[in-house]
Amino acid sequence: AAAEKGGYDYFMLKEIAEQPKAVADTLLGRIDAGGSLTLDEVRISASELREMDKVVIVACGTAFHAGLIAKYAIEHWTRIPCEVELASEFRYRDPILDAQTLVIAISQSGETMDTLMALRHAREQGSKVLAICNTNGSTIPRESDAVLYTHAGPEVAVASTKAFLTQLVACYLVALYLGQVRGTKWGDEIQDVIRDLSQIAGSVERVLETMEPVRELARSLADKNTVLFLGRHVGYPVALEGALKLKELAYMHAEGFAAGELKHGPIALIDEDLPVVVVVPSPRGRSILHDKIVSNIQEIRARGARTIVIAEEGDEAVVPYADHLIRIPATPTLLQPLVATVPLQVFACELATARGNEVDQPRNLAKSVTVE
Ligand code: G6P
Repeated sequence: AAAEKGGYDYFMLKEIAEQPKAVADTLLGRIDAGGSLTLDEVRISASELREMDKVVIVACGTAFHAGLIAKYAIEHWTRIPCEVELASEFRYRDPILDAQTLVIAISQSGETMDTLMALRHAREQGSKVLAICNTNGSTIPRESDAVLYTHAGPEVAVASTKAFLTQLVACYLVALYLGQVRGTKWGDEIQDVIRDLSQIAGSVERVLETMEPVRELARSLADKNTVLFLGRHVGYPVALEGALKLKELAYMHAEGFAAGELKHGPIALIDEDLPVVVVVPSPRGRSILHDKIVSNIQEIRARGARTIVIAEEGDEAVVPYADHLIRIPATPTLLQPLVATVPLQVFACELATARGNEVDQPRNLAKSVTVE
């Protein structure tokens, strides 16, 4: 078993370390020499894709968080309205679906019953279903109209890490491909993003090289009861994922909030010494979001909380308000989750270890849930 773990104590650590390769493998062969996307696997014709007037994403758990991030990318690059829904809620509320709806089912295992039932319902309504899946020949891709496989390799640890990053890559590819096929006004931006995406594995690698202070921080928080996570824009689903990881692995109370919502309730939770992790958007690009989140960090800190700030290299505005600063490489705004999630995975894994929990097999959880 030790050999299977490749020298790591846990599969989760091995799988976190494999992320740069998983990301690169998922891009492999999908970008041609001219910088265009070739997604031949998406066996839904270009003319059908041009007819789509809505995208609906269904998924569970970590895959649902990938879907939440995909919504920002799909709507921005394609201008097609996109909804994201927990698979377990989807079919029971009589969702509006037809042949012009593209349904995307995201699942690492391809066997999650909630997601499978959602996609069956969508196909019964005449919608086309594209699966994003990590497991060749599993049920969800077999029952879908098309599948884009993530190439993360087998994921053994119950808490999803490398599969999540590759789900994001696949979602970006689908969003960019829809933009390419439909010819949006973002043509130039799409070319730039494809180039940035092809270099992103190196950025993930750089994050992994600087994780020792994050582990140290995690160990110092092992006796806390609650950790809050805040983010905005695509940083919001990253915050949700950070909180989910902590629940799954450390069995700690953790919640993710949209930073702008803080003042509408959650700020009442802030007190002395409460650890609050804040995912800061790039000061470049949509800098208004950056400025707003910096004032959120100030507000939290003024109430005595302990701020753990994840911010881009060179972002000096956060420095005065960060009790702990975790640096990530500069990336285009929409791609930031690929680098910002990694420290949160390491954080949760180390906290679980420090609390004596079983990292690869958390209590009460299963890798794939095949009951509704
Ligand atoms: C289970 C796992 C989660 C996972 C979810 C969806 O609940 O414990 O880690 O995110 O299922 O799994 P899937 O295989 O559909 O991505």
